[in-house]
Amino acid sequence: MHLLQVSDLSKAEIEALIARALDFKQAKTYPTYPQVSVINVFYEKSTRTHLSFALAQQNLGCKTLDLNPERSAEGKGEAMLDTLSTVHAMGVHLAVMRHAEDDIFDAILPHIPSTLSLINAGSGKRAHPTQALLDMMTMFELGLEPKNLKIAVVGDVLHSRVAHSFSTICGIMGVGELVFAAPDVWLPEAMPYGQVTTEVKAALKDADIVMALRVQKERMVDGKHQNLEAYCITEDALSLASPNVHVLHPGPMNRGIEIDSAVADGPKSCILEQVTNGVYMRMAVLEHLIKASHAASV
Ligand code: CP
Repeated sequence: MHLLQVSDLSKAEIEALIARALDFKQAKTYPTYPQVSVINVFYEKSTRTHLSFALAQQNLGCKTLDLNPERSAEGKGEAMLDTLSTVHAMGVHLAVMRHAEDDIFDAILPHIPSTLSLINAGSGKRAHPTQALLDMMTMFELGLEPKNLKIAVVGDVLHSRVAHSFSTICGIMGVGELVFAAPDVWLPEAMPYGQVTTEVKAALKDADIVMALRVQKERMVDGKHQNLEAYCITEDALSLASPNVHVLHPGPMNRGIEIDSAVADGPKSCILEQVTNGVYMRMAVLEHLIKASHAASV
């Protein structure tokens, strides 16, 4: 069993993962899975996802390994599939992987050992399922009912895997109104769920949740850079939203570009709570896969 995209999960499974993650957040002790070995393989930079997965693995008593592709035998020409088969032969049951290519998991899935489970820790512009789960968890924890929400997602939508997975999870969970706002060069024609617009003020109007997205310079192969000033989440911009608005940002933040420090550090910000929730959601995801897969029986 793998977790490669949000659509791998049903609404009931997402609700169960959120409930389990919230349980973990309250708990003083956790169940342990010392027989399970997990490897983290990050082909792209990460702070939050990488470290929260490592901490989640340690909290669950797993054996946790880290493979830095730049320092591994891949630097001597070994293929990624051979790397995965090699660590599996050492007894690794779960691999948490981040990669720059959108379709990397489609490409490798038919060729990996059948008893190796994969978790997508972010693939290209396409998917970041555990981020979407922790974002939904953060909204649930605030006591918000998805069907009653208006959510505005503002920034570089086109290059954002967070936006795509968030759109999918909002569709599954039945979010009332979801609007993605960006300058036209950073706006896809459509999203899996929700509307797209360049009209940021209309998107922000009466929003219950505002999510700011980072300008993803590393994915801009077309050179269409854009001034994001009109789309920066400032206190002025936020005054259009509901008085009870909550602000999310998946991180890392570019302060003063897509979000003002006064908002990022202000009372409406849930950004560090998202980071905290990431540890507990990743514990829930790991446990879900351990119980559902070969790893439970070794
Ligand atoms: N949100 C997120 O994926 O952050 P990192 O790149 O630091 O993991």
